[in-house]
Amino acid sequence: MYPVKRPRRIRSSAVIRKMVRETTVTPDDFIYPLFVTCGRGIKKPISSMPGCFQESVDELEKTAKEVYSLGIPAVILFGIPDHKDDAASEAYSDKGIIQEAVRALKDSVPELYIITDVCLCEYMSHGHCGIVKDGNILNDPTLELLSKEAVSHAKAGADMVAPSDMMDGRVSAIRKALDSNGFQEIPIMSYAAKFSSAFYGPFREAAESTPQFGDRKTYQMDPANRREALKEVSLDVEEGADIVMVKPALSYLDIISDVRENFNLPVAAYNVSGEYSMVHAAAKMGWVDYNKVMMEVLTSIKRAGADIILTYFAKDAVTLLNE
Ligand code: PBG
Repeated sequence: MYPVKRPRRIRSSAVIRKMVRETTVTPDDFIYPLFVTCGRGIKKPISSMPGCFQESVDELEKTAKEVYSLGIPAVILFGIPDHKDDAASEAYSDKGIIQEAVRALKDSVPELYIITDVCLCEYMSHGHCGIVKDGNILNDPTLELLSKEAVSHAKAGADMVAPSDMMDGRVSAIRKALDSNGFQEIPIMSYAAKFSSAFYGPFREAAESTPQFGDRKTYQMDPANRREALKEVSLDVEEGADIVMVKPALSYLDIISDVRENFNLPVAAYNVSGEYSMVHAAAKMGWVDYNKVMMEVLTSIKRAGADIILTYFAKDAVTLLNE
């Protein structure tokens, strides 16, 4: 008995393999995260994230030009302010680091799509994503600060805002605030299913946002919960999110797939810092091939159902795709 069904027939050459390929990764899929800091002439490497930097606005402008010329359509900005306090004042100040960076980028690279991360942890002295009282993270008072922050980002010229705090009701609060300030056209990409993950480790070094006490388990999701992710996403959809995000990506491909199956909105996935650092570390040891593993990682995230990938690999991946 010889096999009549031979799946190998359509794997016999690169041409046919390419013709039957189900998933492709393109530069249009990417959002590149950037870290902006105060001062001038600063480009400080983030040791756990090779190729990533904390940059002052003047350096950021150069990087943004390079990113755009490579064909990456969008960036997401994270701020490291000069001053932190228990009201996150710099998060919503018109003179804040993000507001300054957005104005500068809109001036020097106007075609680049600018997304801002709307969160308070980088601006709070205690490093939590909301207002703290007696050791608790208060939900509703935090919504006011997040709304002010989103409006001030939009005023500075942001094309899209992305709340990552995981407070209940923040999408509708931010939507209302944007609309009543004349920003009806600014979309919200919500970090809808954001898990309390150890894969954020390197980011917290990059953004200097490690919580000074406790952890984020009272607001970010339990990594063990799959059904709850759908609940979180459906709430954000009802509240008016335009794009929903799953974060992290790699250990959460099932969640990406579930969200894809259950909702008709574009799905974004955040290929987070720890996922990036692990590939770099293994490649540095000579244990895996950096380019191949990077492309396999990105392909798997798209195959699971993501339309958009936020990734620190964007520059390297696009360079490879452009070859
Ligand atoms: C802020 C925020 C975090 C990340 C994005 N926005 C960190 C956190 O929640 O602790 C993580 C990004 C990454 O690890 O690449 N709330």
